[in-house]
Parts: sequence; structure tokens; C-alpha cells
Amino acid sequence: MNEFTQTLLGLLADGHFHSGTELGEQTGRTRTAVWKAIQSLQSDGVDIYSVRGKGYRLAAAIELLNCETVIENLTKAGRERLQNLEVHYELDSTNAHLLDIVKSGDVPNSAKKGYACLAERQTEGRGRRGRQWVSPFGGNIYCSLLWRFPMGAAQLGGLSLAMAVAVIRTLNEVGLKDAGVKWPNDIVVDGRKLAGILLELSGETAGPCSVVMGVGLNVRAPHQEMTSVEQPWTDLETHMGQLVARNKLAGILLGHLLSAASAYERDGLAPFLDEWQARDVYLGREVVLHQPQGRIHGTVRGVDDSGALLLSKGGEVYRFHSGEVSVRLPD
Ligand code: BTN
Repeated sequence: MNEFTQTLLGLLADGHFHSGTELGEQTGRTRTAVWKAIQSLQSDGVDIYSVRGKGYRLAAAIELLNCETVIENLTKAGRERLQNLEVHYELDSTNAHLLDIVKSGDVPNSAKKGYACLAERQTEGRGRRGRQWVSPFGGNIYCSLLWRFPMGAAQLGGLSLAMAVAVIRTLNEVGLKDAGVKWPNDIVVDGRKLAGILLELSGETAGPCSVVMGVGLNVRAPHQEMTSVEQPWTDLETHMGQLVARNKLAGILLGHLLSAASAYERDGLAPFLDEWQARDVYLGREVVLHQPQGRIHGTVRGVDDSGALLLSKGGEVYRFHSGEVSVRLPD
């Protein structure tokens, strides 16, 4: 998205009508250029009405993300931990962007602890297990945080659970008290997915390890663009029954992610375990664990202190480090 199109969107963000002439004057472009840019936004999935004699308006006002406002909503500790924040209109994936930064070698190691990135839209949002994360413009939160841990991958097994707790704390703070977690880190409300977390590692197995922690949180998800999402999903505004201020939400989320990364580096999963277990929607339930090698049936007995899933079967308890859990339906 070029600078002109971004300026145009900024002018339309209030949700009111703006004539082509007015938009042209404010951007220093012709009405035809404005019209073309509006068309390209519409083809990118931005919902813009065009009414003869009135001009253009967004289907609903958007609170665009803004770097300074997100930072204003961080706590003092959050601001101290944050090394850098990028806010983009569009990226292929915020996770991929931060991984590229790690690979480029352009950023010193000191800046790799607390480097964050937000985007209004992702063209190739990544989900767990190679899935796509549908990422329409301007409604949801797509946030990634880079953190360089001194330890290796083997000690980072519980990190995704710690990040799930960071998202739960964020939701609590904005007033959504009943979100649950599905092992390892799906955030659900009433059985529908509200947020997903994807961790991507780069570094030596023995450490240090740079980890990109990506969170996708549905805030106001446009239904027509979410039709390709395969699992039942929901968004925050549906449960809050009111508009959610996205800059404030992004600041609170980032603060909790930074604080959780720092606490995990110091103390591992221990400070998060009780909160995670209290929100475990599968505890005590009969489930199926899907792994590449096959399916395993069992009853969920929680997680161990490394974040591994505990399943009981035939009087024995087994632990699993990977796989996808679903509820076991009656035979
Ligand atoms: C899941 O499948 O549950 C994980 C979804 C993770 C999506 C987020 S959105 C921000 C970050 N960038 C990505 O490409 N993916 C993660």
C-alpha cells in the first residue's frame, strides 16, 4: 500500500462521507487518482461505499493503529522493555517480517529483546501447523514480538503457554473475564476461537534462541472475509457488546507479552502454570490428540511443569509435547 493510499485511508477512517474533490484537494491528487486508489483499497477487502453526489465512506469508522498511541498505552515497565515498535498498514506476515530482521543481521542482539511489530492487514498471515491466518484490514490485531532468550529450544517448550496467559491477562484487563485456553495456546470463548499464537524460533538448538511470538486476536472481524476460516471463530466486540479501542488494546497486549517474555526468561513456566490450568477448557475431558503418527485417545490431566500435555489412558498418564487436541465425540 503506497503512501497516498495510506493518507486516503487515514482521511476516510472517521467513517463519514468525503467527496472525491475534497480527498483530491487534501492529498494533492486528481479525482481520478483518488477513484483508482479507492478501487485498489476495495479490491484489498477494505469496505468502502461510493455514493454519487456524496463521495466515499468506510462501511464503519476504523481506529487505525498508531505507534505513539500504542506506546502511550504501555505501562512504564512495558516502555522500558520495548526496544522498537513498527506499525505497518500491510505486511505478508508480522512473524515473517521479524524473522527476516533476525536473518538480515541488521539489528544488534541488544535490540532483539523487545522488538515488536503490528500490521493492519496481513496478506500471508501464518497459523499453526502450516495453516493460513485470515487477516483482513483494520479490524483485528496482528502483533509479533521478537525476544532473544539465552537458553536453547529445549527450555522453551512452555513459552507458548506463557504467551497464552499473557493474552488471557490482556482480555481480563479489558473486561473479558471468561476466555479459556486449549492446549497449547488457543484462546477460546464459548468454544469458539478468539485468538491464536504462533511461535517461530531462529537460532542454535543449544541457545541463545531468538523467538518471534505472534498473536492474532479477532477484535472486529468482518464476516464476509472470515468465511474461509475453517474452525468456529469469534471476535472480541461480539463478547464485549461495545467498540474496543484498538490502540489501547494493542498497548495492553504488548505490555503483557513483554512482561511474560521477561518473566519466562527469568523463571520459566512456573509463574504462569496456575493461571493456565485454571483456564484449561479440556481439563478432565475425553479428547483425541492428533499427531502426524496417528491419533491418541485419552483424558486430559492438565500439563506438566514443562508445558507438556498430560493424557491418561488405561490407568497410565502419558505426556505429549506436540499435536492438536480436539474433543472426543461419542462413538
Ligand atoms: C494459530 O493458528 O492459532 C496461530 C495464529 C497466529 C496468528 C498471528 S497474527 C500475527 C502473527 N503473524 C503471523 O503471520 N501469524 C501470527
